Amino acid sequence: MTAPRSIRNIALCGFMGTGKSAVGRLVAEQLHFAFLDTDTVIEARAGKTIAEIFDEQGEAGFREWEKRIVKELALRDRTVIATGGGLVVDPGNMASLKEHAYVVCLWASPETIYSRVKNQTHRPLLNEADPLEKIRRLLAERAPFYKQANVLLTTDIRSQREVAQQVLHQFRVARLAPVAH
Ligand code: S3P
Repeated sequence: MTAPRSIRNIALCGFMGTGKSAVGRLVAEQLHFAFLDTDTVIEARAGKTIAEIFDEQGEAGFREWEKRIVKELALRDRTVIATGGGLVVDPGNMASLKEHAYVVCLWASPETIYSRVKNQTHRPLLNEADPLEKIRRLLAERAPFYKQANVLLTTDIRSQREVAQQVLHQFRVARLAPVAH
């Protein structure tokens, strides 16, 4: 028999540029929860930027960091966790998050994502000749994994505040009926 899971935390997953960190901060503020961003934790732990980790250890090395951090997250309580865009592509990571967190996927179209990230340079996976094409391809590949979240919220035409309100609403509903989610 497996122990009943308790939803103590919220985890935001989804593609780069869907607003996980900004929305996560707003949600944490409202709930008086702590806020944590897996990329920030990895950078602090490794003493390197994400780009340096990709350079020196490759994407596979970075994914190992993510797995390690996900295991530690199981100990968290009253925390909003913003995850790196590729973290839930590992089914073990998604399953682990679902043990203690209500998992919300923030979704946006490739065009919206591109418009949000095009002036940023810190994401190794998008440093490509045709980033929009890369976003389309990666998003299509990852969609089945993102759809494993407890709920999927579209962010294209919503402000970060509106998305945060929706996350809060879904979380409260899920807590009232934890078995159904
Ligand atoms: C990645 C997303 C990034 C970061 C890394 C890889 C991905 O996080 O983890 O560059 O694979 O989609 P954000 O989603 O916070 O940009």
